[in-house]
Amino acid sequence: MRRKLVAGNWKMHGTLAQNAVLLDAVRDGMSQATGVDCAVCVPFPYLAQAQQKLSGSSVKWGAQNVHQLGKGAYTGEVSAAMLRDFECSYVIVGHSERRACYGESSHLVAEKFLAAQQAGLTPVLCMGETLQQRESGITETVVAGQLDALIQLGGVQALRNAVVAYEPVWAIGTGKTATSEQAQAVHAFIRQRIAAEDSQIAAALCILYGGSVKANNAAELFAMPDIDGGLIGGASLVADEFLAICRAGQV
Ligand code: 13P
Repeated sequence: MRRKLVAGNWKMHGTLAQNAVLLDAVRDGMSQATGVDCAVCVPFPYLAQAQQKLSGSSVKWGAQNVHQLGKGAYTGEVSAAMLRDFECSYVIVGHSERRACYGESSHLVAEKFLAAQQAGLTPVLCMGETLQQRESGITETVVAGQLDALIQLGGVQALRNAVVAYEPVWAIGTGKTATSEQAQAVHAFIRQRIAAEDSQIAAALCILYGGSVKANNAAELFAMPDIDGGLIGGASLVADEFLAICRAGQV
């Protein structure tokens, strides 16, 4: 059986002082928890703080973006090896906010994914459709395109040590969660598409749902057969809320 993962995506939020309280609470709240994996993906400047607060605990940490190349004259960018220097376990790639605000293509996202993996990180590949795309009936086409870009560049083996997150854009930060049936349908589609290439990799793959996951809807989402946990935005900034979501993932 796949183990559930609940990962926080803090986005561009936090201060040293606020983070200290939040990280202590998450670490302490998870200290007795079993049967679920928990992680927080923090802004780059706070990686050292996350490392210092969470080392030796059950809570892992990671970043929200990475450059596709190892080093060079790329002012303002951060490499996968730098993230490993801070003992990151995860890095989010292809979040819809980066696709929309910074024009990241599925090909670039695939390059970032592979760079992260080669450095020993577990990439969390985000994909999802806009409301307009859903209403036009092309959700599966959009998600398939985002997934296929990775499979074309890295082969299906790239999904062996990886996490995928289905995040419908219309559900992010809107309070409008996909119903558990809507999410399950897309998760099953993603798993089937990978299974067509390699059924073992598909069966083992952790597929998270993201988009307005809260303490009061997490259990229902996580009960679906192809939903293996959540990628949590706003609710990951509130310790009690985030811990309740993590507990909803416990088996
Ligand atoms: P919200 O949980 O705030 O909707 O954000 C989801 C998300 O974008 C996680 O990556």
